[in-house]
This record gives sequence, C-alpha cells and structure tokens, in this order.
Amino acid sequence: MYLCPEPKVLELKGGYYYFTVGEEPKVTSKITPMLSQKESYRLTIDAKGVNIEGADEAGIYYAKLTLRQLLLNHRGCLPYLYIYDEPEYSYRGFMIDSCRHFFTVDEIKKMIDGASLFKFNKFHFHLSDDQGFRVEIESFPELTAVGSVRPSSDFGRGENDKTPYAHYYTKQELKEIVEYCKERFIEVIPEFDVPGHTTAVIASYPELSCTGEKIEPKTTAGIFSDILCVGNPDTIKMIYSVVDELCEIFTGKYFHIGGDEAPKKRWNVCPKCQKKLKELNLKNSEELHGWLVNEISLYLKKKGKKAICWNEAIRGGNVEKDNVTVAWWLDRTKASLEWANGGNPTIIESFTPYYVDYPYGMHSLKNVYLYNPRKIRGLTSLGASSVVGIESPVWTEFIRDFNKLTEKCFPRWLAVADTAWNGNDKKNFNKFLKTVAFFCEILREHGIIAAPESEWNILPHNRLSQTVGFLKNFLSKETVTQFLNKDE
Ligand code: ACM
Ligand code: ZN
Repeated sequence: MYLCPEPKVLELKGGYYYFTVGEEPKVTSKITPMLSQKESYRLTIDAKGVNIEGADEAGIYYAKLTLRQLLLNHRGCLPYLYIYDEPEYSYRGFMIDSCRHFFTVDEIKKMIDGASLFKFNKFHFHLSDDQGFRVEIESFPELTAVGSVRPSSDFGRGENDKTPYAHYYTKQELKEIVEYCKERFIEVIPEFDVPGHTTAVIASYPELSCTGEKIEPKTTAGIFSDILCVGNPDTIKMIYSVVDELCEIFTGKYFHIGGDEAPKKRWNVCPKCQKKLKELNLKNSEELHGWLVNEISLYLKKKGKKAICWNEAIRGGNVEKDNVTVAWWLDRTKASLEWANGGNPTIIESFTPYYVDYPYGMHSLKNVYLYNPRKIRGLTSLGASSVVGIESPVWTEFIRDFNKLTEKCFPRWLAVADTAWNGNDKKNFNKFLKTVAFFCEILREHGIIAAPESEWNILPHNRLSQTVGFLKNFLSKETVTQFLNKDE
C-alpha cells in the first residue's frame, strides 16, 4: 500500500470492507477532545465502514486525505485497519516565485492540488522582486502599471527574449487562490520582499530609493544595489499601504517581509539613511535593517499577524523576538544559529537541498528525502526544537513554463512532505521510491508531470554535467558584469 506521507501508526486488522465500485464508502466523522495534538486524527475501517475522529477540523480533513490515498490503492474495498496520525511540524510549506516567471491562476491551483495531496499546509507566494511586482495595489497603482512590466528577459545562456514581459494578479484572482487553499487547509503567505529585491518597486516610484534615479525592472537574475531608502518616511508609508492591502486578501496568520540579499552599499552613503541611523542611535546599516524588520513586525502584530523574514535580515542582532519567525535559507549564519538556539521560531529551507529549482543532479531526490532539518551542525537541542517547520521554494529565473515547474517540484516535494509530516525517524528510501512511482502516475492524471525516474537519482558523471549546466545559467554577459562589479 502506497501512502505519502505514511501515517505514524498503521495496523492492518485482516479482512476487507466492501462497497460498490463507483460509490463512496460509508464515512462517519467527528471532532474528539481525546486527541490533544493539533491536526491529529484516528481512522478506523471495519465491517461498518470508515470512522474518523479528528482533534480539529484539520485533523478530520487530513484523515479524509489519507482515505483518498487509500482509495487510490484499492477499488471497491478497503482493508480493515487502524490509523493514528499526527504531524511532526506545524509548518509544512512550499514556495512559488511568480516574479521571475509568472504562472496563471489555473497553474497555481494545479500546483496547490499537487502539494495538498501530501498534507502541506503553507503556501508561500513570492509576489514581489526585481524582475516584476505581481499584485494589484490600489493605493500605489504604478506598482503594477510600471513594476509588473520588464522590457525583456535575459536569464542566461544568451537566450534574450526581447519582448516585454507583463503580468500580475488582480485582487480578485488572489482571493480566489486564498479561498481554494482554505478549502484544502492551506494558509497562503504573501511575500512583499523589502528592502532589497525591490527594483520593480523603485521603477514604479523612483523617489523611494536612496538615489532617486529612474530605473527599469530587471531583465536578468542577480542581487542589485538599488534598494528602498529607509531614511525616507514615504518608503515606510508605502510599505504599510501595501501590507494593508495584502492583509485584506491574505487572511492567514503569517506575512513574509523578505529581507534577503539587501546590499547596504546605498544606505551606507545615503544622507537620509545615515540621518535615520544616527537618530535611532544604531551602529550600522545591518542594525538599520533590523529596525525596519521591527517596525513592520510591530505593524503586523497590531493587525494580529506574525512576520516571517529571510535569515539575512537578523544579522544586525537587534530584531525583536516576540513576533518574528526566521526563514533559514542561507546555511548556518552566526545570527541564525543564535536565533534558533535561543529558542526562537525557525523555518528550515536550507537551499541545499530544499531549493528545487536546482537540478536533480545537485539536489537529488535522495538528498531531499534524507535531509534532517533538526540535525544542522551547530543546532543545540533547544535549537532543534525551535524548528517549527520546513519549506521548499521553487525560484523561477530558469523556469519558463508550467511543465518545467512541475518537473522541478515533483517528486521532490513528496520527499519534503514526508519529512514535514513524519520527521526523520522512520526513513526508508527504497520503499519511498515505490511510493513515489505510484504517486507520479496519480499526479499525471491531474495534469502534473513529475520528473522521469531517470532524473531522481542521477549517476555521478551526469551530476557533474547538470551542475556545470546550472551554474552556466549565471554566465550571461550581464551576470558576469554584475559579478565583476560586485553588485551592479
Ligand atoms: C533567497 O534565496 N534569496 C531567499
Ligand atoms: Zn537612503
């Protein structure tokens, strides 16, 4: 029997409950106070049919998902059994970048269908970046009028597409996605990435950067030195307006405020930023970044929301701990280790191996499956227990179409889902491979084409060529120039 993730306890009782093919089995369900762990459930199948008890509505939903997987394994009958199940992590996330390349509402829904089958419960939607701002914001209309349009696309290997690339989601479309996720017990977490990765914002409102120079949304991958000017009070007003409007659409607990890859080159010489830094009695620009995180986090707290930020944002050491969860993508930075080891909430999304835009030859299915987010070197036992969950992002600089997107994510997201639900105590890779083969067929029926089996665990010589191929993506004229000039 193939189940993903596998239930914590599964006892087969011998015998089968039969029902007419094409009809539903008889199912009774109720919430019970006997189950204390959130999202947990008990599922029994006997001669009377299927009985479900959940700790809460989510528990009942997950029991029904498990039942759905059981029905995929059997036709017209179900084995008598007892299942008890509960998740290892409360945060089980996947992330999609719709900025570098845009995916339609229907494509996003298909990705949600695929992920939800494996009990993910957080969809982190990366909606703003240098190459495009992808949400309609009424109070700042230029964000889409200008910021959602890049003049061309050049993401490496000389494939410069000279046509403008212009896409964004309307509020109504995003509300539809939020509703779709709600039905699947998935919270959608929007990311408004500040203060870096904001070329598209600055293209829309140049007065919000330190130099005020007119620029265009970026056409290449990279890290760029023009970031939002935090010494300008209008920047903070704009951030709060965008947060306000996004919070009307995204009604969950978390809000992602980005904070990655924000070079401080401009802040270090900007009179407005330097004035702010002195007023606040801060030592350096990293502390100024920490101050920005605190301001937005407090703003979110007043709305009953929690902030998530990428782990570079806490480098200054002054981020207040009470309302922030750190998304750990860069490996073992000192500040992140201190954060987690201090007992503060952390989501592990280490780029090796959880970034699934990397080729299978670099982040193989086995690497992803066996990666233990609580065994990162330097994490104490308190640090390990501060890991509230894991997340697997797919960045899309080099992913132009939907089938490429699905191949990158599936089946690696099954491996992430397995760890998210079960932790690492019961790993069995050979058994997992059979489960993966089973579910890749199911996914195909739902229009999701997973990577072929030949990709899952690549032979060493192909690993090398995939690694070289991936790294070559970064060798366009623009990215090399950028590297030689450090960050421009
Ligand atoms: C990131 O990969 N820059 C979060
Ligand atoms: Zn400035």
